[in-house]
Amino acid sequence: FGTAKINKKGNLSIGGVDTIELAKEFKTPLYVMDQELIETTIDKMKEAFQSSRFKTRIAYAGKAFLTTGMIKLVESKGLDLDVVSGGELYTAHKAGFPMKRVHLHGNNKLVNEIEMAVEYGIDTIVVDNEDEIAKIEKVCKEKGKKQAVLVRIDPGIEAHTHHYIKTSGLTSKFGISLFQENLIDIVKRLNDSPYIEFKGFHTHIGSQIFQSAFFIFALDEIFKYLDRLKKELGIVVHTVNMGGGFGVYYKNGDDPKPIEEVLSEIITYTEAMEIKYQIGFKELCIEPGRSIVGNAGTTLYEVGGIKETVGGKTYVFIDGGMSDNIRTALYQAEYEAGVVNKMEDTDTKDITLAGKLCESGDIIIQNGKLPKSTEIGDIVAVGTTGAYCYTMSSHYNRMVTPGVVFVKDGKAKVAVRRETYEDLLRNDEIFEL
Ligand code: LLP
Repeated sequence: FGTAKINKKGNLSIGGVDTIELAKEFKTPLYVMDQELIETTIDKMKEAFQSSRFKTRIAYAGKAFLTTGMIKLVESKGLDLDVVSGGELYTAHKAGFPMKRVHLHGNNKLVNEIEMAVEYGIDTIVVDNEDEIAKIEKVCKEKGKKQAVLVRIDPGIEAHTHHYIKTSGLTSKFGISLFQENLIDIVKRLNDSPYIEFKGFHTHIGSQIFQSAFFIFALDEIFKYLDRLKKELGIVVHTVNMGGGFGVYYKNGDDPKPIEEVLSEIITYTEAMEIKYQIGFKELCIEPGRSIVGNAGTTLYEVGGIKETVGGKTYVFIDGGMSDNIRTALYQAEYEAGVVNKMEDTDTKDITLAGKLCESGDIIIQNGKLPKSTEIGDIVAVGTTGAYCYTMSSHYNRMVTPGVVFVKDGKAKVAVRRETYEDLLRNDEIFEL
């Protein structure tokens, strides 16, 4: 639960704010973001990366958690921002984020998204596939601009993570395989294009990766290729972006390496590769999402019922569910929970923490534990919900999207107000039947 503590009243307190008070004031479900934890995590990453001989950049992957306030925080900490859609790009632009620190991703960027990106003057477009090149050239030609690009390559490294969140391997939908013969022609084409400044390679091998060796394997493949590019075409790549994917703690048994150690390993290895191949590249980037916000998020729910089934399974029903956290249903994700005023009660029982939506798979915790004394009206906190929960929320069953508050130094600030039923009707039209 981030920097959470048990306060004098015996309640879980995050960022110095009592979670019982938060639940009362902002209603449940509620996403609580520990601002200080986000900030200190970013500081650790920056510190580890600054030790490099190369220029380094850290771009926050907005898909993990993006709101205007989060963008402001990312800006204030001096990070870049990785966006993956017109909506994310628009949010960043509206928030006044410096466009020269924005990178656009996506395996099917729409022409109007490319237009927005070029018009706003973003830093880099990460080219995902060959078809995209002509689209970028056309837009740049029309607008009389030149766009810097990286090419997303797929180094064919299959990281050990859930099948759905792997993004590399020979059948991946993302990027151009390093083993694709015409990759060299694609690079040549980009390098020769009058509308494009080819800056280098990008790779992202997956998410929630615990073994740093996979990042090293990927670097290895990339450097071999950079060597070939330099020797065969005389092309020297300026930037290598290693993507994100650094795993975080979710449940007992998870033992991620501290992020600063992983980043130091990446830097050390990159430096060794540079010494070996003498590529002359200048800039090393990463774009973490989950490792910046994952542990900083806690979701609060109220218990509405407890059901003991004849089959011996105990359900604890909460007032949210897969509409605010679809990760258990989608990836069999595992979480830990506690009752906020009974955090130290060790007399627990096996429970299934279930949502209120019309779907048997609407489960947040499949095999969890809560105190035997858990009762209706209790506030349950589920940890590590900072990444891919708010951003993956839905209106299934016309659930309203919960509010988001940032907590720090004993204060809670609303980052996103809780939706109302009226909000749900905002785009509905009444038409003649
Ligand atoms: N860069 C690129 C190009 C990506 O595709 C991703 C994540 C990231 C960076 C950030 O990865 P992170 O550091 O957050 O692992 N919804 C899934 C995760 C999907 C990740 C997609 N790409 C989940 O809830 O586990």
